[in-house]
Amino acid sequence: MVRPGVRTRETNPHRYSSSESEHIDMQSLTKAATPSGHSALSGLVGGTPLLRVSGPLAPAGRGFWAKLEGFNPGGIKDRPGLHMVERARARGDLRPGGRIIESTSGTLGLGLALAGMVYGHPVTLVTDPGLELSMTRLLSAYGAQVNVVSEPHSTGGWQQARRDRVQRLLEQHPGSWCPDQYNNPDNVAAYTPLALELASDMGHVDVLVCSVGTGGHSAGVSRVLRQLYPELTVVGVDTIGSTIFGQPARPRLMRGLGSSIYPRNVAYENFSEVHWVAPAEAVWTCRRLAASHYATGGWSVGAVALVAGWLARTMPADARIVAIFPDGPQRYLGTVYDDDYCTAHGLLDCPPAAEPELTGRLDEKEVTRWTRCTTVVDPLTLRGAQDAADVEADAAQEDR
Ligand SMILES: Cc1ncc(COP(=O)(O)O)c(C=O)c1O
Repeated sequence: MVRPGVRTRETNPHRYSSSESEHIDMQSLTKAATPSGHSALSGLVGGTPLLRVSGPLAPAGRGFWAKLEGFNPGGIKDRPGLHMVERARARGDLRPGGRIIESTSGTLGLGLALAGMVYGHPVTLVTDPGLELSMTRLLSAYGAQVNVVSEPHSTGGWQQARRDRVQRLLEQHPGSWCPDQYNNPDNVAAYTPLALELASDMGHVDVLVCSVGTGGHSAGVSRVLRQLYPELTVVGVDTIGSTIFGQPARPRLMRGLGSSIYPRNVAYENFSEVHWVAPAEAVWTCRRLAASHYATGGWSVGAVALVAGWLARTMPADARIVAIFPDGPQRYLGTVYDDDYCTAHGLLDCPPAAEPELTGRLDEKEVTRWTRCTTVVDPLTLRGAQDAADVEADAAQEDR
């Protein structure tokens, strides 16, 4: 794994390599060897490595840096899982021993299971039958109660059914607390350390490429990097069929990125452009990445890598491009990396076009393949978007 040469995983203050341990005084060594309770667990989060990605996604001499958040114990959402819980405890919103209840079928479930263990809170995760069996097993193994709604709401689909269940559980458990990752500003602030890691490792960043779901990591990382590098270009990556950037909500194959609602954590003003990517394009890129770089991840990794590779091909060769890879391959062995699944869904061997299509306005047309738009606004400022959202968000499944 090639690094820019500034910082490595071993320089994470919470980790010790054998050479470093020679310089550690006995007091700190004793502290490190006798962590209190589960507090040392949180030290496993952060300090993730960077990987240089070039051919075949970019020609020789060009490429981008991938921040491998899949190296966190549970993935990128370990960061907001811990931070949101820490802040809620500090404010008194979450009392010692209070139950954490959240609707998630995604990576945040792992982060909250970790936070529950670190801070001693029981965790209930409300999900629907779309959750992979492997995730249910893993979350249960980590001590979370996985609460599966069995029926979609008659008009609001699975998302509304899950929200209703969360509400009921909050009422049943006095002292319980829901993080509300879509609107909680602590989900954004949680990514300051990630941004500082990038600044420290890269020295300078010209372009940041992020997938967008709740908007947390794109908002949090870009806020800090923009202060350091005012000329920073921020490129958002969404899936087709997601409303986040003003498209109509549709049932979606791709999980992690995308949404059927308008999360208030999305910092629309920070984005220079947005790209929508289709599942077959993400699968192709994931598989090329795996075969060429021993790098794997899910739908968002494939989509982000496709866009970052294109930027590396088309921007000046010395541009420093960073892409955030949110997680590893574990959840996707039965989808992205499964030939039978991909064949059944028409996703196998469909190389993306060399260039994205261009659309002038976010809502100019419904996009069905890789497309970019260079004018990003909050879709709620576009006429009719709220009406459309009320109807369509209710009908679609929420996958996070
Ligand atoms: C795998 C994966 N990728 C991307 C995202 C999007 O990140 P964010 O919610 O910070 O916008 C998520 C969010 O759940 C995710 O789980």
